[in-house]
Parts: sequence; C-alpha cells; structure tokens
Amino acid sequence: AIPVLTIDGPSGSGKGTISRAVARVLGWHFLDSGALYRAVGVAAGWEDTDLSDPDALQRLAERTVVSFKDVPESEPRVLVDGADATDELRTETAGAAASAIAAIPGVRAALVERQRAFRQLPGLVADGRDMGTIIFPDAQTKVFLTASAEERAQRRYKQLIEKGVEVTLDSLLREIIARDARDAQRPVAPLKPADDAVLVDSSGVPIDQVVEQVLSLLPE
Ligand code: CDP
Repeated sequence: AIPVLTIDGPSGSGKGTISRAVARVLGWHFLDSGALYRAVGVAAGWEDTDLSDPDALQRLAERTVVSFKDVPESEPRVLVDGADATDELRTETAGAAASAIAAIPGVRAALVERQRAFRQLPGLVADGRDMGTIIFPDAQTKVFLTASAEERAQRRYKQLIEKGVEVTLDSLLREIIARDARDAQRPVAPLKPADDAVLVDSSGVPIDQVVEQVLSLLPE
C-alpha cells in the first residue's frame, strides 16, 4: 500500500508546521485537511449559504472545488472554485465557519474520497483531526501531536500580539480549554488519538526536534 503518515491533534499543537516540514524532508505529498473545511466555510460566505442548513452545506461541500497550487520556496496557494483564497482561509472567520460545518456528518462524508485521493506515490503526510481514525485507518504510521493548553495559548498569544491584536493570555487559555472539550465531545469525528497512534508532546520542544522525532517513527 502507498505509505501514509497521519498527524492529528488539536489546534496550536504545531501540527501544520511539523507535518509540512516532514512532508518536505520525505518528498511526500501533503494533505491539509483543515483547508478543505475552511474552503467550504469560505464558499458558504461567498454564496451566503445558511450555516444552520446541513443539507445546503453538504451540497456546497460536494460541489466546491479546492485545489492546491505549489509555489517554490513558499506555502502552496489554495484555490477555491478557481479563485485564490489563501489569505481568506487563514482568517478567524474562516476557522470558525470551518469548525461549525465540520460538525455536520454530510459535510464530512462529502470530503472523504477527496481526502483519500491525496494518497499517491511516493507517500502522503496527512494533517488533521481524523486522519488516523477515519480517513486513513490503515496508515502505516500515526502520530497524535499534542502540547499543553498553556503552551498552545502562549503560541497563539505571540501570533496575535505580533498582528497587533489586543488579547490576554488568560482569555486565550480559557478559549483553548473550552474548544478542546468541544472537539473531544462532538458526536462526529471527535478529536481523539487512533488506538495505534504514537503520542508526541511538543511542549517546550523546538520544531526541528519534533520533526526528527516524527521521522524516527517511520519504518526504514
Ligand atoms: O489548527 P486549526 O484548528 O486552527 O485549523 P485547521 O486545522 O485548519 O482546521 C479548521 C477546523 O476544521 C477545525 O477547527 C476543525 O473543527 C475542522 N477540521 C476537522 O473537523 N477535521 C479535520 N480533519 C480538519 C479540520
């Protein structure tokens, strides 16, 4: 079978950075599954789709075309129905919309085969919440990446302060704890490690060391 390395975990665990770095080192394909949910969220905004209408959102997820365009020396651009939506996808609004629609079973179902299509030679690194549990249950290597709530709040705080946003560390910490509880308790695809996942805690560990640790888990 074509090799797959799944990296799941909560937001702020460093998943995105680490899985991209690992894919680069290996020369493997990369699936940013969160970008698919964000893309449907953004498309819903463009089309004014009612966020409380699960059927409309499922149809939207089925027809929204998301593609990734590689750019040398930089992050790939994400096209939603052909339009470059890379910057819009990163906004808090897109993240919040993604998180809401990701709780709809029909939306998740609409994206399953599309995610599996990323499994191509020489291999795939898949970043998300349910990569090891639902999308690629037969993946050869599964990682569940965590970091303490304090560390994740610190990282988020630094990012927001750099952007000039006024926040307190305490309010971010409370938000993260509430979001973790929501993600773990949602009825569809709750955030939890696959039974055969290796838990990696990135608290206080520099990125390149976490990358090394993840690479060391791959079979020869
Ligand atoms: O890291 P962060 O949670 O901010 O963003 P993301 O990975 O881009 O995911 C955006 C949202 O999509 C998350 O809040 C999840 O609720 C959802 N998601 C999901 O349910 N399943 C996935 N495989 C990936 C993302």
